[in-house]
Amino acid sequence: MDSDYFFVGQENLEETKKILSRELNLHWFPRLASTNLLAQAEPWPQGTVIAADCQDRGRGRLGRVWQSPPGLNLYFSLVYYPSLPRHNWGGFSLAAGVAIAWVLKPFVPGLGLKWPNDLLVSGEKLGGILLEATGGKLVTGVGINVNQQSFPPELNATSLKLCTARNWRRDRLLASLVREILDSLNMWNRGRFEQVIEKWRQLDIVLGKAVAARRGGQVIKGRALDVGAGGELLVEDELGVLHALHSGEVTLKA
Ligand code: BTN
Repeated sequence: MDSDYFFVGQENLEETKKILSRELNLHWFPRLASTNLLAQAEPWPQGTVIAADCQDRGRGRLGRVWQSPPGLNLYFSLVYYPSLPRHNWGGFSLAAGVAIAWVLKPFVPGLGLKWPNDLLVSGEKLGGILLEATGGKLVTGVGINVNQQSFPPELNATSLKLCTARNWRRDRLLASLVREILDSLNMWNRGRFEQVIEKWRQLDIVLGKAVAARRGGQVIKGRALDVGAGGELLVEDELGVLHALHSGEVTLKA
């Protein structure tokens, strides 16, 4: 891939479909309520990608809204049917984050992951991932701020364009991200947990730092030590008690 691959030429979704067609099936919509909702609603086959130019009810983690204006960003969901038992599904969340960061990192040097999979650049949000499981189906929903140049200050967000001063081709980026995510989910699904976790450790920005971890109504203050074999975050609190976080949110303490 030459260094201009993501930047030159006009966006062309037919090209994206061709690049993906061997193992994946792309459905692109000008507008949807939420790509995750549609991915969940129907019995799509393995490897289906539902993407939209904009979303009216984009969903973020922890019940938040994901603002999804048209013509600027990427919003898509990948349908995957893991063969692993359900209690091992937690790590798919890390696997998806690692894949996206791996594709973007060469272009966005300050990019890091905040557990489980927030994509951050200097503390500002570049993208997010919402995994939702229904029955045997796992939907990996991805929102990346691509060419958007201004954000409401309360979102504390950035974009690829703001980070690189270049206009990105969403069609090619979508193809590269989906491929890498699928490879990474497959790796987790085959039980190669340590390989995914090792990559995650290289990208992580919380390990060794003082954090406040929110789990339901509970706040655990301490130090993020590592992730466990299932992708759970291990936090040692101020009394030296070890907590394993399987869900929730972490903030770095100053
Ligand atoms: C987060 O809060 O960090 C996760 C945001 C995930 C947003 C994406 S956009 C595509 C997919 N469809 C949704 O409704 N949400 C996810």
